Amino acid sequence: MGKPFEAVKISDNVYWVGAIDWAIRDFHGYSTNRGSTYNAYLILADKITLVDTVKASFRDELMSRVASVVDPKKIDVFVSNHSEMDHTGCFPDVLREAEPDEVYASTMGVKALEQHFHAGVPVTAVKDDSRISLGNMHLRFFETRMLHWPDSMFSYLEEEQVLFSQDAFGMHLASSSRFDDEIDAHILDYESAKYYANILMPFSPLVTKLLERWSGLGLPLKLVAPDHGPVWRTGIPKIIAAYADWALRKPTMKTVVVYDTMWGSTEKMALAVADGLCAGGATPVVLPIRRSHRSDITTEVLEAGALLVGSPTINRQMFPTLADALTYLKALGPPKLIGAAFGSYGWSGEAVGYVNRILEEMKVRLVSDGLRVQYVPDEEALNECRALGGLVAERLRELVEG
Ligand code: FEO
Repeated sequence: MGKPFEAVKISDNVYWVGAIDWAIRDFHGYSTNRGSTYNAYLILADKITLVDTVKASFRDELMSRVASVVDPKKIDVFVSNHSEMDHTGCFPDVLREAEPDEVYASTMGVKALEQHFHAGVPVTAVKDDSRISLGNMHLRFFETRMLHWPDSMFSYLEEEQVLFSQDAFGMHLASSSRFDDEIDAHILDYESAKYYANILMPFSPLVTKLLERWSGLGLPLKLVAPDHGPVWRTGIPKIIAAYADWALRKPTMKTVVVYDTMWGSTEKMALAVADGLCAGGATPVVLPIRRSHRSDITTEVLEAGALLVGSPTINRQMFPTLADALTYLKALGPPKLIGAAFGSYGWSGEAVGYVNRILEEMKVRLVSDGLRVQYVPDEEALNECRALGGLVAERLRELVEG
């Protein structure tokens, strides 16, 4: 039987020394149904180098994995690619226990580390496309501002062609496997899309620029080692192509229909809208919001061309569950959507107007003023819902084929 928390060799001189968070189910509002990992990497160069750390509560796991390879006191260099606390939670422990001679971060990273930890230690700012020597190996740094924070950067180990990409190309997935080709491809597809949708989607234009820049550099990649989830070994071209597609968000026939319901009327409308979408050749994904987490709704929206929202009116307002999901989605800003609102009401019926307003703030192009039905929809009202679905399908087809 092995010792607890051993490092895993991922390349000739690089070890994974991160932590597996099997139990986490909520990552600042994002549902992590499969847990997560916080990845840190140890480079056994002449100057022993640690890249990133883990969440503070996983300090023992990090230190144990490092110690399985080398005495932590022998760490000479620490590199912080990203200052968010899932990757810097053990920064103070590393400073205290390893006492590295050199600590590096991006210019914004130096500031963010001080503002988080007030450690008062000198951190050297590395400029974009700069390079440091680790003795027999070299690290190159590339700023990746806003992917995911202003301080974010990539580090590239030239001699072993390993890219330490912090949040980019990551996913929340706890696993005993360290490489992409050891994990079910469908799980990788879903969790990497979910991560992109919930973390990186607002910065899609920057993703496009970064991928163009990276392609222009022509640096070979044997491994892409993110700070969450598996290390990419076999699927590097696939995940890079997926990022390029998600960043561009080309129109598709997929349509997300999300709704809440009080006495079943708005649900009847949602199902009739979905029927109209099907008849028109669109591909609806129907999400009853009380059984659909906001971060899963966002994942479905990532590859959708349209968003239809059904809300009953409750005390002159839209339903609070939908306000939650739409507020979250608005902040992530999925571009190029068309959409519409619908919902049943008793006596005032303001919900559709509120939903329209939020959709317009999200820059969703509305195909209708919205459908409102008093109390329970009759067959005529349900036919109007089917017609709304058909109209959305028709508009989507024009976009997809145009
Ligand atoms: Fe995994 Fe932006 O931190």
